[in-house]
Amino acid sequence: MENTLSIIKPDAVAKNVIGKIVDRFESNGLKIAAMKKVQLSQADAEAFYAVHASRPFFGDLVKFMISGPVVIMVLQGENALAKNRELMGATNPKEATKGTIRADFAESIDANAVHGSDSLENAENEINFFFAQREIL
Ligand code: CMP
Repeated sequence: MENTLSIIKPDAVAKNVIGKIVDRFESNGLKIAAMKKVQLSQADAEAFYAVHASRPFFGDLVKFMISGPVVIMVLQGENALAKNRELMGATNPKEATKGTIRADFAESIDANAVHGSDSLENAENEINFFFAQREIL
């Protein structure tokens, strides 16, 4: 059993497709072990994406992530991390496989509908950043 972090980003929340995205996870054997809707502060977004702080897109990324509410989830299941990444599709929706979340709901590499942890170590850190143990069920 594995846990990974998923964020439905402001573009997808604004499009009113939270349920459609959650359905992708549940229909593919992942459980929602924790879930909340949050308006991130600039400090939250900068801290969460600190690994990207030196990248040229960091400023735009932070600005986008605080542009509206996000839905943050812990996804749980066998191979949850890889399964989530497969369901999301490539970071750039223009390169995402047909039928993936990003191909179906995202517009651009910034407004790319969802975030998912990219390693088990990052998943643990990202989950602990947003959730207390008692909220993960
Ligand atoms: P995410 O999985 O949330 O992780 C970092 C985000 O930075 C990524 O999705 C993209 O939305 C955004 N981003 C913007 N430009 C790039 C880029 N050139 N490479 C990777 N991520 C980028």
